[in-house]
Amino acid sequence: MPVTICVGAQWGDEGKGRVVDWLASESDVVARYAGGDNAGHTISIGDTTFKLHLIPSGILQPKAACVLGSGMVVNPQRLLDEIQQLQNQGVDVSPERLFLSDRAHVITPGHIALDTASEESRAEDAIGTTQRGIGPAYTDKVLRQGLQVSTMRSPEDFADAVKAHIEDVNMVLQNRYQRRPLDADGIATMYADYARQLQPYIVNTTPIIHNALQANQRILCEGAQGTLLDLDLGHYPFVTSSSPSVGGALIGLGFGPTVVDRVVGVTKAFSTRVGSGPMPTEQKGEIGDRLRGTGEKPWDEFGTTTGRPRRCGWLDGVVLRYAARVNGFTELVLTKLDVLTGFEQLKIAVAYKIDGQTIDYLPSSVAEVERAEPIYETLDGWSEDIMNIKRWEDLPANAQRYVNYIADFVGVSVSLVSVGPERTQIILK
Ligand code: GDP
Ligand code: IMO
Ligand code: MG
Repeated sequence: MPVTICVGAQWGDEGKGRVVDWLASESDVVARYAGGDNAGHTISIGDTTFKLHLIPSGILQPKAACVLGSGMVVNPQRLLDEIQQLQNQGVDVSPERLFLSDRAHVITPGHIALDTASEESRAEDAIGTTQRGIGPAYTDKVLRQGLQVSTMRSPEDFADAVKAHIEDVNMVLQNRYQRRPLDADGIATMYADYARQLQPYIVNTTPIIHNALQANQRILCEGAQGTLLDLDLGHYPFVTSSSPSVGGALIGLGFGPTVVDRVVGVTKAFSTRVGSGPMPTEQKGEIGDRLRGTGEKPWDEFGTTTGRPRRCGWLDGVVLRYAARVNGFTELVLTKLDVLTGFEQLKIAVAYKIDGQTIDYLPSSVAEVERAEPIYETLDGWSEDIMNIKRWEDLPANAQRYVNYIADFVGVSVSLVSVGPERTQIILK
C-alpha cells in the first residue's frame, strides 16, 4: 500500500515541512491536501532556507511530482510569487512537475477583506486568523458560490465571475462592516491575468494520484495546520476552516483509506500555538519565553506566515494521544528536541483536573478545556548540545528517556527525532 499521510499532531508549525522534505526523498508524488497560504513550512538545506506556503515541500526533492489538491484554497497571486521565488532559488517548478487541482478553490482580495473585517469586528473574541482569506473562501465553497480553479480555464469568464463575486463581497463590506468597497473591475482584470499565467499548471489531479497508485508508486500527503486546528476535531471556533487531519487527505486528494499504510504524526517536543483558543499547558512566564526564544535564531517561535510570537508551553500528552487516536498514527516524528536542552526538568501533561475531577481525555468544549489544569509528569532534562548528534544511541540518556516516555504514553512509536532545522539534523530511531 503506497500512501503516507503526514499530519500535524498539535496546533500547526510542528515541523511538517522539514519532515515531508525528509520523507519525500522516497516519494514519487507529494501532495498538499488542505488549507492555503495560512500554512508556512520552513525547510533548511545547507545555508539555504525555503519558506513554502502553498507548494508542497516535496518540491525540493528533484524527482517528486507535486500536487496542490482539490481540498486546498489557493490565492493565485501568492502561488505565482512562490513559483517565482523558488525559481530564483534554482528549484524546478515547471508545469511538468507541479500540478494545481482544477477542483481547488480560489482566494480573492474579497475573501481577505472579509477575513480582516470579521476578525476586527470580533475584537477581543477574535480567532487570531492569519487573515489570508481562508475562512471566507471555504465558506463560499460550502455555500456553492465559490470560484473553482476550473473556471480559470477561460480567463474572460473567470474575470466575469470574479467581478460578480467582488460586487457581492462589497455589499457585505459596506453594509455589514461599514468599509470601503474593493475595485471589482481592477481585481477582475488582475485575476484574469493570473488565470492566464497559471493555465499550464491547472489539471484534473485525480488521475495523477490514481495512475501513481496503479503503478504502485509512493504518494506522500503533506498536511498543513494541525489536528487541533481541524474544523471538526479542534476546539471550535478556534480552528481553521478545513480538515488538516487524516480524513482531509482522502477527500482533498481523492483516494480511499485502504491504500494508506503510514500515518505520520509530527509533534514538537513541547507545545506551541498561534492565535486564540485553549492551550492547557501554555506557560506565560519565564519557561514560555525560554521555549519561544528571542527571535535571534531562525527557529525561534515566531510564525512563518505572520511573524506573530507563538504561545509556548510544555508538551501536552493528552492532546498528543487524542491526535494519535483521531488520525490513527502509525508512527510519531518528534521535532525540536534540541530546544529542550538545558532545562533541568521537563514536564509532560498526562491528565487534566477539571472542576476537581481527573480526566485523561481531551474535552470537546472550549469552556471545559479552558478550565483544565494539567497534571504533569516530571522528567529530568539534559545539558549536552544534541544538535550534531546523528545516532539515537548517542543522545543523552535523559533525552532518550523523554522520547521513550512520549511514545509509551501515546502508544505510538517514534520513528524520527529532529535536533535542528537543517535537512540532515534528524535521527532515525
Ligand atoms: P510546519 O508549519 O509544521 O512546517 O513548521 P514551521 O516551518 O512553521 O515551523 C517549524 C520551525 O522549526 C521552522 O523554523 C523550522 O526550520 C524549525 N525546525 C524544524 N525542526 C527543527 C528542529 O528539530 N530543531 C530546531 N531547532 N528547529 C527546527
Ligand atoms: P502550518 O501549516 C499554525 C491558525 C491561525 C488561527 C487559526 C485560524 O504552518 O502548520 P486561519 O487563517 O486558518 O483561518 O486561522 O489557525 N493557523 C495556523 N497556526 N500553523 C499553521 O499552518 C496555521 N494555519 C492556521 O493562527 O489560530
Ligand atoms: Mg508553519
